[in-house]
Amino acid sequence: MPNKKKYTVTAALPYANGPLHIGHMAGAYLPADIYVRFLRLMKKEVLFVCGSDENGAAITLKAFEEKTTPKKIIDQFHKTNKNIFEDFGISFDIYHRTSAKLHHKTAQDFFLELHKRGVFETRESLQFYDDSANFFLADRYMMGTCPNCQFEKAYGDQCESCGSSLSLQDLINPVSRLTGKAPIKRRTKHWYLNLGAHQSWLEEWIEKGLYQEELHHDPKAWKSHVLGQCHSWLKAGLSARAMTRDLDWGVDVPLTKAEGKKLYVWLDAPIGYISATKEWAKQKGKNWQDYWQDPNTELVHFIGKDNIVFHCIIFPILLHTH
Ligand code: 2FM
Ligand code: ZN
Repeated sequence: MPNKKKYTVTAALPYANGPLHIGHMAGAYLPADIYVRFLRLMKKEVLFVCGSDENGAAITLKAFEEKTTPKKIIDQFHKTNKNIFEDFGISFDIYHRTSAKLHHKTAQDFFLELHKRGVFETRESLQFYDDSANFFLADRYMMGTCPNCQFEKAYGDQCESCGSSLSLQDLINPVSRLTGKAPIKRRTKHWYLNLGAHQSWLEEWIEKGLYQEELHHDPKAWKSHVLGQCHSWLKAGLSARAMTRDLDWGVDVPLTKAEGKKLYVWLDAPIGYISATKEWAKQKGKNWQDYWQDPNTELVHFIGKDNIVFHCIIFPILLHTH
């Protein structure tokens, strides 16, 4: 007999680098909570997961600013944000955290499975490096002038003033956000996933709304700005993206010859939904696979506007590959 229809509902894991504000609540958590409460009223079987995102530049930069450790920052704000959600009455079944051992193991096993399938290609390249902080300056660790709007505090991956997505090489007069100094370049090795190999099925999956069984493959089931961002990425053509970083905080890359390498935060964060499910299942005597590997389970993500590409393009590719 087929299993009963289930819903796995996720709410974007907020970074544990500061207290949640009303924008977070209104944008992602209240809508998710309303939806979940509705499903429960309809007697549907639903699991609602969330937790703190405790890796990535958001955490290490905050620790650097506060002259403290990432561990102190996440312990403080995981507690604060967990309490805020409780005070607001957001009805998560579990509020997990990505510093948990179970999460590290889940993310590492996921990476190893992909590695076993031979999907990673290692490449060496020159990357920006802050030699007074001894730190590779990926993504958000650099700041400079935006080539499109001349905003002087654009980040290495995005200009928050005009919204254009940038790459580190685009920034004019780039400096390290850690020390304010101009970076040098240093050679390093990373594990890349070729997103381009997935372009054709992903395009069909999005264009035909194949991600949506219930609404009979309605290609408009995702919101128009969500589809808009996906279309512009697909139109530009997907390319290889590094799934590892040179950092001393985060989930270790589980390979020999990968010392000092951590998993890219946008690889490990969505896997946080799976590790949260595993922890919940352990506590409740349930089977976590029923919520992730059963064709009768629908996966519904509530996200922030900066999270679109990671949930609609990169995470589906990771799940598909796995
Ligand atoms: O944008 C953010 O706040 C991220 N921490 C969201 C992560 S969502 C998911 F991938 F975990
Ligand atoms: Zn700009």
